[in-house]
Amino acid sequence: MSLPLIHVLNGPNLNLLGQREPEIYGHATLDDIARDCTALGAELGLSVAFEQTNHEGALVDMIQAARGVAAGIILNPAAYTHTSVAILDALGAYEGPVIEVHLSNTHRREGFRQHSYVSARADAVIAGCGAQGYSLALRRMAVLVG
Ligand code: DQA
Repeated sequence: MSLPLIHVLNGPNLNLLGQREPEIYGHATLDDIARDCTALGAELGLSVAFEQTNHEGALVDMIQAARGVAAGIILNPAAYTHTSVAILDALGAYEGPVIEVHLSNTHRREGFRQHSYVSARADAVIAGCGAQGYSLALRRMAVLVG
């Protein structure tokens, strides 16, 4: 039998992790995080598809593509967290569990980062745990889809 598939989707500028404001986002690169997610997924009995885009519409397309295909979505929408009704609406049309992840603790930062459109649809939100937030999200996802 095939393993439950989890889509791990990443928004704009996360391709620069490791180089981008490491004092806020840490030193791990997105490739490091993708590798860790794939390895942990295998331990947890999950198959992981890891993607990143800098474009809002592409993120909407990725969320739509998960419908009927992915058992769950782990999403770091990056800056679109704070602006995108389109991403919230795409998640509204998705039937499975959604976990929102932020590397930084957005609640301790500028006021404009303290509202998330995505949280209205998220089953869980993890912020401020750095790259480990993705592992925590996968562990929680294993429970939700198990
Ligand atoms: C982020 C937080 C957002 O406010 C920011 O725009 C990002 C990354 C995080 O992972 O901490 O690009 O989602």
